Amino acid sequence: MKKIFFSLPGNEMLTQSLAEKCQAELGKTIIRKFPDGETYIKIDSDVKNKLVILVCTLNDPDEKLFPLYYLSQTAKELGAKSICLVSPYLAYMRQDKRFQPGEGITSDYFAKLISSFVDSLITVDPHLHRRSSLSEIYTIPTIVIHAADLISKWIKGNILNPVLVGPDSESEQWVSEVARLANAPFIILEKRRRGDEVVEISVPHVEKYKEFTPVLVDDIISTAKTMIETIDHLKSAGMKKPVCIGIHGIFANNAYSDLINAGAELVVTCNTISHESNSIKIDEAIAGRINS
Ligand code: R5P
Repeated sequence: MKKIFFSLPGNEMLTQSLAEKCQAELGKTIIRKFPDGETYIKIDSDVKNKLVILVCTLNDPDEKLFPLYYLSQTAKELGAKSICLVSPYLAYMRQDKRFQPGEGITSDYFAKLISSFVDSLITVDPHLHRRSSLSEIYTIPTIVIHAADLISKWIKGNILNPVLVGPDSESEQWVSEVARLANAPFIILEKRRRGDEVVEISVPHVEKYKEFTPVLVDDIISTAKTMIETIDHLKSAGMKKPVCIGIHGIFANNAYSDLINAGAELVVTCNTISHESNSIKIDEAIAGRINS
């Protein structure tokens, strides 16, 4: 089946790179706002009988959802054979439980919504904490790409004598795998989240790693409070300035500068969300799965 890629606003670089790597057509659209704030959608390419691949990373998801939905519907009505969503960062995955009575489990609702208007989904390391697979909430076929191999290669090529540090038990799944692939030791700390922007971290005995370069690895950097709190504890334990690696750098508000100011030696992310810290590219891995 012929493929055609479309970028949702803000995903142009990744979309072009994927289309090139898959030797596929890059589709043309007009997506803009009417003066009243409603969304205007136009597809200026032929999509008939093609696999339409929509590229839209889903940080700030509420803003992005309507254009995505409209583009998908328009492509279907114009004869697309199938619609695949490439969303390197998948939103709402952390809201996987009713933490307080009356709260919505929005990861479920979001999954139901996405599953209702695209036919398949490709994403990178979704935050699977209380769930073991996307199929528990998504009813469409999903492909998950793991960044562990790429991160470990970056660590091997850039850091001398690393010790990997995971800020909480959830991070162990990524940190242990990256550490194994990078042939490096790792430690996992304990975290308690007290609110959206308040976290407490405890640091186990790290004396034997004082000559190592700590490399904090987490899936998401959002407010950066988790990493900042971890840095403070590593500092008090007399460790070197850490390198901070996040798969998905959301960097809410001033999180990036806060993290640098807190004492991060370097902040590195994968390009699942476009940001100046993107040093690890996932394009090849995504294109490989689309082509397979
Ligand atoms: C949490 O479960 C995730 O793995 C991250 O640790 C968390 O999302 C980081 O958030 P923040 O940067 O806001 O502390």
